[in-house]
Amino acid sequence: MGFTRRAFLQFSMAASAIAALPLMRVLAAATTKEHPMPFTLPPLPYAPTALEPHMSAKTFEFHHGKHHNAYVVKLNELIAGTEFEGAKLEDIILKTAGDASKAGIFNNAAQIWNHTFFWNSMKPSGGGKPTGELAKKIDADLGGYDKFVDAFKTAATTQFGSGWAWLVLGKDGKLVVTKTPNAETPLTSGATSLLTVDVWEHAYYIDYQNRRPDFVATFLDKLVNWEFAASNFANASVKKAA
Ligand SMILES: [Fe+2]
Repeated sequence: MGFTRRAFLQFSMAASAIAALPLMRVLAAATTKEHPMPFTLPPLPYAPTALEPHMSAKTFEFHHGKHHNAYVVKLNELIAGTEFEGAKLEDIILKTAGDASKAGIFNNAAQIWNHTFFWNSMKPSGGGKPTGELAKKIDADLGGYDKFVDAFKTAATTQFGSGWAWLVLGKDGKLVVTKTPNAETPLTSGATSLLTVDVWEHAYYIDYQNRRPDFVATFLDKLVNWEFAASNFANASVKKAA
């Protein structure tokens, strides 16, 4: 299964609207098994210039147009003719996680998921403090916004080499700031991802060179899409209550 054109439109709309569609639902949208379609690169939820000057169109040209796209192309190559052809992206990730013989498939599938989640974790004129139920939850579980910022910056800057920093809702119902190396994703631990920042060098080198701390600070101050995080939190709460 792959992203259909309709799914892309839904994805774009979901990411740009406050009432965002759940990412998981959009990612799950796919063609029938009888007609498996290859995965294709999801479009950005905003124009490539929309996050300037904090993230340049040049960065998107490479990060989205080349890196993210390369994961899509490679995954399609790797799953062609296998049991994974026609499968949902999340299912591919979950079924290959921890299997060294399928590391290539896992890495490319997880990187597709992580990057799509990252684009939606940002928005033009973003940044600052969350509001509403998520803000209350951060106060209760993480000791407040300032402590969240400290924890998130620490996770992002201490991830040695490539990886990701995350705000997730753990299986125990508590918020946690965490980090994952390389293509690893909280999806495989059963946690619900709310927010992520990509700390692979390709995410920030064009705009910030080696200054990862500046990139992470700018992400929090100017780019974070708290509505997306709140939507993920609300959907997880509804799912748990159901
Ligand atoms: Fe990346």
